[in-house]
This record gives sequence, structure tokens and C-alpha cells, in this order.
Amino acid sequence: MSRTPIIAANWKMNIGPKEAREFLANFKAEQLCDCKCVEKVIVPPFVTIPAVMDVLGDCTCLGVGAQDVSDRDNGAFTGEISTAMLCELGCKYVVLGHSERRQYHGETNAYINKKIKKALAAGLVPIYCIGETLEQREAGKLEEVLGSQVVEGLEGLTPEQVAGVVIAYEPVWAIGTGKTASAADAQSAHAYIRGVVASTFGAAAADAVRIQYGGSVKPANAEELMAQPDIDGALVGGAALKADSFAAIIRAAK
Ligand code: PGA
Repeated sequence: MSRTPIIAANWKMNIGPKEAREFLANFKAEQLCDCKCVEKVIVPPFVTIPAVMDVLGDCTCLGVGAQDVSDRDNGAFTGEISTAMLCELGCKYVVLGHSERRQYHGETNAYINKKIKKALAAGLVPIYCIGETLEQREAGKLEEVLGSQVVEGLEGLTPEQVAGVVIAYEPVWAIGTGKTASAADAQSAHAYIRGVVASTFGAAAADAVRIQYGGSVKPANAEELMAQPDIDGALVGGAALKADSFAAIIRAAK
């Protein structure tokens, strides 16, 4: 089956409302709005989302996502943001289980699983991040780590729900380091992940689920990565902070 590639800009804790307006003006000038063959998403900090929505108006060229969401509905959870709030702003996606959330906030597969279920119940597309540390890779634990992240993170989902999730494979050692997995290594991890989805949720879910690569993706390496059969797009951090380099990565996926 042909899967529409999805390129997402994870701005992390960068780009406030004012700077986002500039980014979007520059992005519009790249004239990629008509390109329907690539799904394009930006994932700003929470406080930047309203400004992004304001500039986009009726333009559906870019989808908007959040970088995290609470596993609760509402109530006394200081600092948390609910799925209903994201939907009210017009978000369609939410990044969950990013390695920085796992590392700095102790998020586990089981906890992320709750957030994935909340997101799906609200009609949001989860972008579920997985990936091994260098230590785990060197200890020969790549498949064990990815396998448990897929099985535990997606536990209890129906095959139809899994088909609608986006998985982002981001080797932790490649994030923000300038070290990219080789296209062959990335492809082999993606094929392994798709195999785990197939054996857990069936062939149709595995065939439909999109698996992005993330970790130092830039215009210079995007094309080779995107050409791999099991790589269906990219989750881009540093290289997505400038409209022209984000646009160049989208062109590479076309
Ligand atoms: P990077 O970040 O592109 O800066 O490596 C990717 C990510 O963490 O999603």
C-alpha cells in the first residue's frame, strides 16, 4: 500500500508566538501549500499554538500538533494540558513519548500508553516516539527495546487505531547530535518495527501505519532516508526551526 509521507517540525522549547509568525510568512513564500503528496505538520510549544492558528486561518496546508498532553481529563493537575484544550485550539496531532520526556520526566511505556489512548479518544493523531540509547544499541538490545516500546506503548489498541498512529523511530544517540543513523540502519530498524506491529496487530495495521525517522534529519540527508521503503517521513527538530530548511526536507520527501 502506498503511505502518504508525513514530515513534522518538532520545535521543542523554541519559537514563541512572534517568531512563529515570521516562520510562517517565510514558509508561505516557499510555495509548498499545493503539495498534497506530503502531510506537513508543525508542533510548536503550547503557548505558540494560538498564534500559529491565527496565521494559518483557513489554510489547511500545515497541520498543527502539540508536544505532549495529559493522561487525565481535567482537574487539579498543575501545569498539565488536556486533549479537549488541544482540540479547542484546532490541533490535530500530539507528539507522545519523546525521548526528552522519557529522559527528563521519567515517562514510561505504560504511562505513554495512557496518553495515546486519551489522544485517540479525542480524535488526535498520536505521533508516538520510540528509540534506543547508544548504550542499549551497543549492548545488542535494539530489538528488545523497540519491541517493548511498540508492544507496551500501543497495548490495548485495536488494529484500526494502530493504523492511524504515527510511530517516530528516533535513536536517542542521533537526536540533536548531528549523528544520523545510516539509511540502511534506519531502514532495518523501521522494518523491524513494522514486523512487530504485524505480529501484534496484524498485517493490515502494519501495512498502514506510518513510521517516521527522527534524529538529525536535515536537507542533505533527507532524500536518502525518505527513499527507504519503510521510512514514511521525518520528525525534525533543529533543521525545522528555519522555514527554508524545513521546506527543503519536505521537497526531499515528495
Ligand atoms: P533533531 O531532533 O532533528 O534536532 O535531532 C529530532 C527530534 O528530537 O524530534
